[in-house]
Amino acid sequence: MSNKMWGGRFASAPDAIMEEINASIGFDYRFAAQDIRGSLAHVAMLAGAGIVTRENAEAISKGLEQVRAEIEAGTFTFSRALEDIHMNVESRLAEIIGPEAGRLHTARSRNDQVALDFKLWIRDTIDQLDGQLAELQTALAEKALAHAASIMPGFTHLQSAQPITLGHHLLAYVEMLGRDRGRFADSRRRLNECPLGSAALAGTSFPIDREQTARALGFDRPTANSLDSVSDRDFVLETLSAAAITAVHLSRFAEEIVLWATPQFGFARLSDSFTTGSSIMPQKRNPDAAELVRGKSGRVIGSLTGLLMVMKGLPLAYSKDMQEDKEGTFDAMQSLSLCIAAMTGMVRDMQPDLKRMKASAGAGYSTATDLADWLVKSLKLPFRRAHHVTGSIVKIASDRGVGLEKLKLEDLRSVEPMITEEVFSVLGVDKSVRSRTSYGGTAPANVTAQARRWLKTLAKQNAKKDA
Ligand code: ARG
Repeated sequence: MSNKMWGGRFASAPDAIMEEINASIGFDYRFAAQDIRGSLAHVAMLAGAGIVTRENAEAISKGLEQVRAEIEAGTFTFSRALEDIHMNVESRLAEIIGPEAGRLHTARSRNDQVALDFKLWIRDTIDQLDGQLAELQTALAEKALAHAASIMPGFTHLQSAQPITLGHHLLAYVEMLGRDRGRFADSRRRLNECPLGSAALAGTSFPIDREQTARALGFDRPTANSLDSVSDRDFVLETLSAAAITAVHLSRFAEEIVLWATPQFGFARLSDSFTTGSSIMPQKRNPDAAELVRGKSGRVIGSLTGLLMVMKGLPLAYSKDMQEDKEGTFDAMQSLSLCIAAMTGMVRDMQPDLKRMKASAGAGYSTATDLADWLVKSLKLPFRRAHHVTGSIVKIASDRGVGLEKLKLEDLRSVEPMITEEVFSVLGVDKSVRSRTSYGGTAPANVTAQARRWLKTLAKQNAKKDA
């Protein structure tokens, strides 16, 4: 029996175990659309350069269209013996149009072909994720606008720090997601050079036109070094890094939702659509979706570190190790996409308990900084001194187990005799929040302006995409 793919030098079929470890069709079938797109551009170029005849190119293109239709219709039979998507497509093409199909692989190798397919796939995936991230930003910004003046505690060290608004908190995530989208966009910009025509590693002796294929496939230019082209997976690593950072952002927010949904915090309630019950404890409402978003971030980070490990010891150019670049990446991108969708759903679904948030905002002497600032502004104390005075006042209140606003003027004066009645006006959470008008601060007017700015930007981006 001669080997199905290699004929010539290979007299026998691969051992079953060899076939199993070697085959990638079980996962790279996902490249079918990209593979055919690349082949169509390649054969058009071959004809343009006079490397194959027009008739040849036409027959090959028609055959490829049929393969595409079969794959889309689900009637295509993928074969593990044919190893990967590239060989599966080409072999079916030969069944359809005969041995002339063999001309398609002129001036090309699976090494540049897989690099091309993966770049096209990553590009498509980045575009899809960007749209999803924009939608999540929109959901957050809308909620932020609605809650620009809703007061909640702000934390550092998860200890009550200063009162903030819920809108401000939500907009923090809009900013993070904006940077995430920027990272994906950077990665997309940098990867947008076409490796097709680098062939196995050294380029080709055929008079190919790499500018033409690059343009036809929406790339800015062809890659400049054939060796680099077939050994480069930076574009996957960069995209996975962007994905990992995004997943970490989603995980942090998910953790907050988990906290907020506890009876102890009681800041927010998720509807039945985003919670599950317990099979034993009838009172439970578990925020499973948030927990899974938190959990799945581990998979995304794992895929990044996994591929970094695969690449770190590889000599130039292509090595089969690089076939391990796909499964983790597919899993990471699919997980991230699901997490973004779940987050968007939870943001829209979440009902904040405004009373509870506000009541809790004053806990833990959260307006102590406002008292210190008042001492600086009204009594002209140096801030360090004001900090000290405030500390002593907080101690009196805490010894009595009351809030700052419950102290009597003479209690305050026992620490700093110059304090006047006016000080009580800054001790409430509303006043505190409204006073934070510095650029980027939590004052409701700021939050409203920032939420509007984002909604405008997002609407503009949306209109541009639709145009
Ligand atoms: N299935 C291979 C991969 O995913 C395609 C490239 C194979 N190239 C080769 N020289 N064996 O990496």
